Amino acid sequence: MPSGKVSVVGNGPGELEHLTSRAREAIEESDLVIGYKLYVDQVAGLIEGKEVVASAMGKEVERCRRAVSEARAGKKVALISGGDPGIYGMAGLLLQVAGEADPDLEVEIIPGVTAAGAAAAVLGAPLMHDFAVISLSDLLTPWELIEKRLRAAAEADFVIVLYNPRSRGRSDLLVRAREIVLTHRQGRTPVGIVRAAGREAQNQWKTSLEELTGCLEEIDMASLVIIGNSCTYWDNHRMITPRGYPL
Ligand SMILES: C[S@@+](CC[C@H](N)C(=O)[O-])C[C@H]1O[C@@H](n2cnc3c(N)ncnc32)[C@H](O)[C@@H]1O
Repeated sequence: MPSGKVSVVGNGPGELEHLTSRAREAIEESDLVIGYKLYVDQVAGLIEGKEVVASAMGKEVERCRRAVSEARAGKKVALISGGDPGIYGMAGLLLQVAGEADPDLEVEIIPGVTAAGAAAAVLGAPLMHDFAVISLSDLLTPWELIEKRLRAAAEADFVIVLYNPRSRGRSDLLVRAREIVLTHRQGRTPVGIVRAAGREAQNQWKTSLEELTGCLEEIDMASLVIIGNSCTYWDNHRMITPRGYPL
């Protein structure tokens, strides 16, 4: 049997210029490209003439099973995952599926620029000190656990990065998250919002915990919210969390 392989490729936040060299190489070397349609479209310039299987949101397990079975049959498969595959991406699921089907299957996880890094760069430098990353999606995680983590991160004065701030279109989850953080942080705490970081449609908003509710309409599933810690400030339009260097 020819030896196949699955490369779980992080495609970064969007445009090809953010793709790492290794990610580009793995896509170009592959026989078959599998991914969520939006992510496959983002690498369209690299996959002309290749066999492609693009599927909808919610079909993650099927994509991983297909990737594993095609690799076991000898193909080099590039499984495209948005941002970084190891951060709310496809890496863990693929390893679980491969582990059950064929523990000896060759798998390479190729990191990508995660949305937190891309959005932070758009806003300035908000992640210069300890930060917590929390997804507000309650599809796979009970909301009570998300609240517990929000409370802990807020109390410990972490900068907080919120992925999936508008889970299933529900803005009440973000409203509730804001209330929890406000029990430990001042209303004037800086909040940065970035939509479609690193993509053509990129947009950003400068606000505060107090005023965040006025921005709810701007926030969707392609957005990331960064809540500063007690030292974070706006320098004109740049969000900065000091690392602590004496100036
Ligand atoms: C399932 S998570 C996937 C994260 C991805 N693996 C990563 O490392 O960025 C999807 C969430 O990531 C955030 N996201 C992904 N790409 C983004 C971008 N280009 N700009 C802003 N947020 C983004 C949004 O909060 C979105 O709801």
